[in-house]
Amino acid sequence: MLKEQNWVKKEGEFLVFPGGGTQFKYGVTHYVEFIEKALPVIKWGKNIRVVLDVGCGVASFGGFLLDKDVITMSFAPKDEHEAQIQFALERGIPATLSVIGTQQLTFPTNAFDLIHCARCRVHWDADGGKPLLELNRVLRPGGFFIWSATPVYRDNDRDSKIWTAIVSLTKSICWKVVAKTVDSSGRGLEVNASWYAPLRQCISKLPSGGVQKWPELWHKQLVSVKPQSVSADTKTSKKDTEKWSEIVSDVYLERLAVNWYSVRNVMDMNTGFGG
Ligand SMILES: C[S@@+](CC[C@H](N)C(=O)[O-])C[C@H]1O[C@@H](n2cnc3c(N)ncnc32)[C@H](O)[C@@H]1O
Repeated sequence: MLKEQNWVKKEGEFLVFPGGGTQFKYGVTHYVEFIEKALPVIKWGKNIRVVLDVGCGVASFGGFLLDKDVITMSFAPKDEHEAQIQFALERGIPATLSVIGTQQLTFPTNAFDLIHCARCRVHWDADGGKPLLELNRVLRPGGFFIWSATPVYRDNDRDSKIWTAIVSLTKSICWKVVAKTVDSSGRGLEVNASWYAPLRQCISKLPSGGVQKWPELWHKQLVSVKPQSVSADTKTSKKDTEKWSEIVSDVYLERLAVNWYSVRNVMDMNTGFGG
């Protein structure tokens, strides 16, 4: 990891995460606020509640968003950035090992309000744009893709070529650029929206029926969206939530000899409906 990117520091016997990143010269707090300023419709925790951070590093972006009532799934592969996901999990930030490669991500369709990539080293235009189409699958209609990378704001040959390729690709799938900007540190980002784009040769399907301006509140989504791989009706998933909130408060929190203050990440190996 590059020292100047300030991902992690050693202070005595502790590892400290100062909130640095490739695109966050002034720290993640500044960066997250800069995004909201660039596109005020991104109201963290209100319009945007479920985020995917591609190539997350030590997941400071997702970690900071927790304070804004946003749940971020951060992921990165096992590569030269050793132990990045282990760091993230030890910090209590939801993260998993995954990669944008040749296979679909393990997330359901239309799952995220916003997808973020800060120099995540994915060649979005490779293979006829398949990586971008995969994002399109997991991004809900109306969601945003934030691409924070050198082709957005650098003018050399290589970056300009990538920029041109991405522009033509996003256009071809009817995404719309809704903001392109550079912050005071000279780093830039581009935000794409896939909502209200007129249908041309889009390969992405908007949901049938009424098109909503914003997704329903998160707790309503839990009972209104039909799980795709499990057949369940509203009553069943509601019952599941009630059952688990009772068990967790009566048994897990009260009667197990677990100091819950020392537990930050739990892997639920039989999630059912996530109750
Ligand atoms: C330069 S670091 C940027 C980390 C962080 N986003 C930041 O801005 O500080 C590149 C990140 O992308 C990840 N990465 C590289 N190739 C990837 C791929 N094909 N799919 C997902 N992540 C990838 C790396 O593991 C690393 O976390």
